[in-house]
Amino acid sequence: MTDPEKSPSSQRDVLLIEDSRTGRRFELPITDDTVPAMGLRDIRLQEEDFGMLSFDPALTNTVTCRSSITYIDGEAGILNYRGYPIEQLAENADFLDVIHLLLEGDLPTPSQRDLLESEIQAEVRLPDSSVALIASFPEDAHPMTMLTAAVAGLASEFPDVEKVRDPGNRRAQVLRLLALTPVLAALANRHSAGLPPVLPAEGDSYAGGFLRMLLSNPEGKADIHPAMERALDALLVLHADHEQNCSANAVRAVASSLVNPYSAAAAGIAALHGPLHGGASQAVLQMLDEIPSLDDVPAFLDSCKTGERRLMGFGHRVYHNYDPRAKVIRDLAAQVFEIVGDDPKLAIAKALETVALEDDYFISRKLFPNVDFYSGLIYAALGFDPGMFPVFFAVGRMSGWLAHWEEMMAEPFKIVRPRQIYQGPARRDWIPPDERKG
Ligand code: CMC
Repeated sequence: MTDPEKSPSSQRDVLLIEDSRTGRRFELPITDDTVPAMGLRDIRLQEEDFGMLSFDPALTNTVTCRSSITYIDGEAGILNYRGYPIEQLAENADFLDVIHLLLEGDLPTPSQRDLLESEIQAEVRLPDSSVALIASFPEDAHPMTMLTAAVAGLASEFPDVEKVRDPGNRRAQVLRLLALTPVLAALANRHSAGLPPVLPAEGDSYAGGFLRMLLSNPEGKADIHPAMERALDALLVLHADHEQNCSANAVRAVASSLVNPYSAAAAGIAALHGPLHGGASQAVLQMLDEIPSLDDVPAFLDSCKTGERRLMGFGHRVYHNYDPRAKVIRDLAAQVFEIVGDDPKLAIAKALETVALEDDYFISRKLFPNVDFYSGLIYAALGFDPGMFPVFFAVGRMSGWLAHWEEMMAEPFKIVRPRQIYQGPARRDWIPPDERKG
């Protein structure tokens, strides 16, 4: 997070470090409130030493790139894509606008929008290998497992996937991934339900086509309420990017090996699947199922405070304020429930939020609802199983992962390769099997 409105540090700004072991002093240049980690390498006891490293296992205080895609101020609860506040985008833009914004740097003109739409539509199809791959999974396989495998498997569909240094080729891969991710996501969902695959119809929007592929009955007919399509569209917009989160970092790290983007995107989906990341939306619903009534809310929160469990959908590495996406999703949930009728789980979720936000445990740790707290309730209201919730997240986030991939590939970079502190045994000699002590 570097505030774009703050003036950059002057080239003369330095961090002075004194090594108490040697009394030597070092200067590290300060740029954008950062110091280069490689500048620590000169700090050493003896000339032959490797030099000082920084220790940051969860990358909590490490910047790994420069990026112009998404800005977050976690203290203030601000999220902007390419400068546009998320609240304005959720209200006014659709997912196609946001795809253009993330990938091309700005909102599309009408003709740019038409072009992007037709380019994506031209890539929509059902690859035989994907249909066969998904069909090979047991019906109760997790849809994220199927999606991870199917997206990685797409690399086998195209002969040119390794040309990642070629900008024109990268654009072709981006369009294919944008077109085919919802196809594969829907394929996974239909496989779980024992239904045959369906493709979008002429004139469907991105969200509308996705819903058609998901909801069509065995005769290929789908009754899609416009408010539901709008809700899914807004959720895709809200999930589209979130700067250097666990999955975007996975995509960048894997892509740094110059592997094809299908493998890198599959790494992103795998990272997103975890309950501390996109899998939290599924975990929230499972958690709400464990709270039978409003009277049980205080006891449930007590169990979160003692460390017995986590309040899923709460807390964030970057936001120490209300996640701005959660605010929009909470309002969206209210609109959806006006149409589909109330769900007692919504009342329990609201009570959890109200009680937690007044409790010192959550206040002192600055734990607020995050994007996953209310999103699962909407997906459940649309009729989807909890296993599909992170899949929706992945379909939206694919646009962000691809924007990061393109941004990274367009500039010089090195393969990502962190260091470790080795604490295993010192060198020792081979022991024949019958002389080992067990
Ligand atoms: N419930 C109860 N306590 C919590 C929670 C929670 N959801 N989140 C954090 N804490 C406590 C934690 O126990 C620790 O307390 P203490 O200082 O006493 O040890 C303190 O708050 C700081 O937590 P942390 O684990 O150091 O924070 P982190 O930045 O490493 O973790 C997080 C962030 C999102 C993984 C975590 O808040 C969490 O597990 N939340 C629940 C899972 C969740 O909702 N994930 C979705 C994240 S948003 C969507 C996305 O981008 O993926």
